[in-house]
Amino acid sequence: MGSARIAVLISGRGRNLQALIDACADGRIDGHIGVVVSSRADALGLARAQAAGIDTAVLSPRDHADRAAYDAALGALLDRYAPNIVALAGFMRILTPAFVGRYRGRMLNIHPSLLPRHPGLDTHRRALLAGDTEHGATVHFVTEQLDGGPRIIQGKLTVRPEDTPDSLAERVMHDIELKIYPQAVAWLARDELRMIDDRVWFRGRWLDAPLALDALDETFK
Ligand code: GRF
Repeated sequence: MGSARIAVLISGRGRNLQALIDACADGRIDGHIGVVVSSRADALGLARAQAAGIDTAVLSPRDHADRAAYDAALGALLDRYAPNIVALAGFMRILTPAFVGRYRGRMLNIHPSLLPRHPGLDTHRRALLAGDTEHGATVHFVTEQLDGGPRIIQGKLTVRPEDTPDSLAERVMHDIELKIYPQAVAWLARDELRMIDDRVWFRGRWLDAPLALDALDETFK
């Protein structure tokens, strides 16, 4: 793919965005982030992008008549940067099939649960309520199915008796998300990772299950 042109979509604090910025800056990802788009004007992640000299844009849902109009505007905005990777990093919007189709195989998401467990929101609380003994995060290709696309890498941790939704969120973010997301983007940028017929191809083989933390390159551990 050559040096990748990456667009990152956010809605919040932007810790995953920061991990991607850092990995591009130090060369672990062979690419650069051309634009960061937020669905919220008050997203803290916007300041992280600006501090790194990255173009930013805010696309607010209330300025668009419906989901189709929003996604058309988002597509037009992204077209100006011609990204070959789109990374959803805490982007709190459901995307239309038309938009998803444009970036099929080139759009990734990070989700804070061991998918297929707990798609959707409030995953840490739900994991605790369900009595899960393991929890974690997953990077997957984005398809029309919400949080349901082919899984690439998943990191697990053991739930502790004293865990709260907040403590779990913190551990999942620091011990797992901030490692697996830049790693997956790096593989995609290096063309070591592809989605073909809704299956994941990685370094010359098909994945029957998502990769685990021990698959991380040394520099992402
Ligand atoms: C992360 O937990 C991510 O997995 C989820 O939303 C959260 C975003 O946090 N999709 P941040 O904006 O990266 O700090």
